[in-house]
Amino acid sequence: MENSFEKYKKSLERRKYTIEYFKEVLKERLLKKDVDYYVDLITPEDYEYYLKNYLGDLEKLKGKLFIDIGAGFGSNVHDFLQKLGVRFINVDISFEALEYLKNQGKGVGVLADALNLPFKDSSIDGCICLNFMNVALENIEDLEIFLGEVKRVLKPEGIFIQSNFGYSKIDKEKILEYLKIFGFRDIKILEPLDEINRELIVENNYDYFAFIAKK
Ligand SMILES: C[S@@+](CC[C@H](N)C(=O)[O-])C[C@H]1O[C@@H](n2cnc3c(N)ncnc32)[C@H](O)[C@@H]1O
Repeated sequence: MENSFEKYKKSLERRKYTIEYFKEVLKERLLKKDVDYYVDLITPEDYEYYLKNYLGDLEKLKGKLFIDIGAGFGSNVHDFLQKLGVRFINVDISFEALEYLKNQGKGVGVLADALNLPFKDSSIDGCICLNFMNVALENIEDLEIFLGEVKRVLKPEGIFIQSNFGYSKIDKEKILEYLKIFGFRDIKILEPLDEINRELIVENNYDYFAFIAKK
């Protein structure tokens, strides 16, 4: 039987080119001052609407500790949550991206692999993860390791928000199936509420996937 360390070692070997690729891309983008967020079809207004419904009261988020996994140069939902008083620790394999976010006042950074999170069990109130799962996870074994880590570090009732735009090696149905296998609850699929984004999706058959779930 393969133990969890061996599984992780194999996963890291599989993902090493992706990791090297992003390290280089983010370094170059920062040099060119190209620090725009990747596309998220769920707008800050959509997040406000969904989170109000999900949590009942957004005041609850004030002072909570979230991690932004694969934070890059940030995201709309990161900004939205920060305005509500959420504190952020950013996790990325790009040193430059973490330094950028710190200098922008967008949270401290931890240089780490998202599949080996350097946080204690049940220590984090929320995880956000934007345009990460689709680009960083190669197969179901990676997904299992990743969801295991998110579940481990979240406090009971901690929330997990993910949104991605574009091709993913793992299909949505599998992700949903595994969220349930890993015991995530109250899974809410997010659809863009913005009329323009909805039309764009239909016209171009855009691929996106977004949800909120709870430990
Ligand atoms: C497509 S970018 C998304 C950045 C940002 N969240 C956004 O939506 O604009 C993917 C990010 O994941 C980071 N990343 C890739 N593999 C990672 C890993 N194994 N652990 C942590 N971060 C990783 C990359 O460095 C990059 O910043």
